[in-house]
Amino acid sequence: MHNANPRPATFRNAGPLSGTVKVPGDKSISHRSLMLSALAVGESRITGLLEGEDVLATAAAMRAMGASIERIGDGCWTVHGVGVGGLMQPAAALDMGNSGTSTRLLMGLVASHRLTATFIGDASLSKRPMGRVIDPLSLMGAEFTASPGGTLPLMVRGLVPAIPIQFRLPVASAQVKSAVLLAGLNAPGITEVIEPIPTRDHSERMLRGFGADLSIETDIKGVRHIRLVGEAELKPQTIEVPGDPSSAAFPIVAALITPGSEVTVTHVGMNPTRTGIYKMLEVMGAELTYTNQREVGGEPVADITARYSVLRGIEVPPEVAPSMIDEFPVFFVAASMAQGRTITSGLDELRVKESDRLALMAAGLKAIGARVEERADGLVIDGSGGEPLEGGATVNSALDHRIAMSFAVAGQHCYHGVTVDDVSPIATSFPTFESIIEALKA
Ligand code: S3P
Repeated sequence: MHNANPRPATFRNAGPLSGTVKVPGDKSISHRSLMLSALAVGESRITGLLEGEDVLATAAAMRAMGASIERIGDGCWTVHGVGVGGLMQPAAALDMGNSGTSTRLLMGLVASHRLTATFIGDASLSKRPMGRVIDPLSLMGAEFTASPGGTLPLMVRGLVPAIPIQFRLPVASAQVKSAVLLAGLNAPGITEVIEPIPTRDHSERMLRGFGADLSIETDIKGVRHIRLVGEAELKPQTIEVPGDPSSAAFPIVAALITPGSEVTVTHVGMNPTRTGIYKMLEVMGAELTYTNQREVGGEPVADITARYSVLRGIEVPPEVAPSMIDEFPVFFVAASMAQGRTITSGLDELRVKESDRLALMAAGLKAIGARVEERADGLVIDGSGGEPLEGGATVNSALDHRIAMSFAVAGQHCYHGVTVDDVSPIATSFPTFESIIEALKA
């Protein structure tokens, strides 16, 4: 998969990285804050919103369905919602760009509204499986016409009143969980999602914050039962979006692998369903310190300082995967430069992200001289022992922002740098990435 107008870039070591930076707002929380504000009656105000392409796709879709959404300053937005049940028929297809989160969560919202919506997206998104949301939303009464394999373009016709369901997640996915809960907002009665393996809980936290009646019970087997009372009335909120821990992982890993570096990223979301990367890096020997710990908008936040560290290979327990699911690409970069072997497993989901991240990372890392074995559900990596990798190759980012950023980070510690064939996808989640890395080099 390629962009029609690729923008190649080369990343190479320019000495230690140092300084204090702030990364943009959390992508998951930004999407949810726009969606729930658009369903509240009255004006919500959001600060720290991620202004990346994915979130802008959500904003455009909510506008197309009747919400008024206005940018009043840097990361500062106001939303006048239409109320649960009040979404209107969009005049044209909803273009989701590269964004799986926008697509799956909005499919949930549409499923319980009296409207028909067509979802389209780029070449990457059009390959991703939507059957995982089509299945539960069909049980709730929505009708779907999808492209072969349950992919985009697809059309959803919502049902009012939708049927509240009890649904056990067959795959550990916050997007599927959220799609069902969002559909449940406008269904009469209780919608229950049963979650055997915990995934990011931003939807639950924010639904409660907006005044929805949502309860969570963890049974003796550790399985979460999330129950939402439908036909909810959401009250407008003021939301401060914390920095994205997934974005922060890039400058932090860059500092850990580049000798002499010390980098602080401020205001990073520390929700425990998201911080697996930091825990695993610490197990590898990373020197990370957390200061200024506080709560912002119902989410824990801290400043993270990373100092160059000698990392040692580890075996990552598969149950940690959901809490670092988006961070594996950059984690593999850290592992490829560590001492000894790193083993990962249980990562089948990485094959259906913006790209097949196991295949792409294995191919790219091998091309720059890392020792990597690709298995069906993970990578086994023998690290360089702290030595730079050879580099000098051009790697394929395949419309995947995190692949592009991971190899940009790898270029920090390669003899001959790394060229990424197309860095334009970085704009989906982290538009300031390149300027932040430049600032840390200066
Ligand atoms: C997200 C959930 C995850 C993650 C994605 C964002 C969300 O996807 O990979 O980047 O905001 O709910 P899955 O639900 O497919 O695991």
